[in-house]
Amino acid sequence: MTNSAPSPADKSYPCGSTETTKLTHTPLRPFGRVVRAAGGGARIDDIPVETLRRWTEESRVLVLRGFQLLPKQDFADYCRLWGEVLAWEPGEVVDLVVEENPKNYLFASGDVPLHWDGAFVEADPRYFFFQCLDVTPGVGGETVFSDTSRVYRDADDELRERWSRISMTYSTDKVVHYGGEITERLVSQHPATGIPVLRFAEPLSPQAYKNPVHVKVHGIDESEAEEFLGALAERVHRPEYCYAHDWQAGDIVIADNFSLIHGRNAFTGPTKRHLQRVEVI
Ligand SMILES: [Fe+2]
Repeated sequence: MTNSAPSPADKSYPCGSTETTKLTHTPLRPFGRVVRAAGGGARIDDIPVETLRRWTEESRVLVLRGFQLLPKQDFADYCRLWGEVLAWEPGEVVDLVVEENPKNYLFASGDVPLHWDGAFVEADPRYFFFQCLDVTPGVGGETVFSDTSRVYRDADDELRERWSRISMTYSTDKVVHYGGEITERLVSQHPATGIPVLRFAEPLSPQAYKNPVHVKVHGIDESEAEEFLGALAERVHRPEYCYAHDWQAGDIVIADNFSLIHGRNAFTGPTKRHLQRVEVI
């Protein structure tokens, strides 16, 4: 099945106790899906978790529009239906807002290079959930998702063989809620589908970012490491692999943190954007 195909056909779901709500599926490009509920009264728990899980695995990024946002604790409790919720230092629900003078680039207005969440914690989250409480339209800041399962699929045998021998050590100082040093193989397997995926976080130079991430490549000659990292970064940024999500207030987004790596475009002006994020192992 292609991941952009609406599936199943648009269908109505019970909404509350008496109503039904009509859902419309719209594919995003090059991957992802918007599921829109008519009427404005729909709740995310009107749709069975297993259905949403399937849609997320098919589409990688699932955008729900026309659904009520949840109070903070309810949001965490809902996500618990999907699995264990990762508890960060700020709590299970992390408020993502752009700060005036942030310690960490996640809270700054510049770009966020591609990475996967959970690199510096014990468990890799399987899904992440966002709800968008507020936005400033037209000032950039899109969340960019790169589908590494497609990057791998399109690589030739020689490149795959080279990748299979690579692992990388990432290190960063803990300035907000994560930090440390980890070593990961570049090629991994999606835990649900078994499809090969790439675990790759772009290096962050100390000149350009508040909290640099250093990357050491194992499995190739050290003299080739810089060129290798540059070529890999170029590949995962290709438009055919990347979906940029332009947030609307009221969006609920579920994304597959194993198939995807993600980052953010820079903001081009002041923003009042407020996202809440929960990660499920
Ligand atoms: Fe992230």
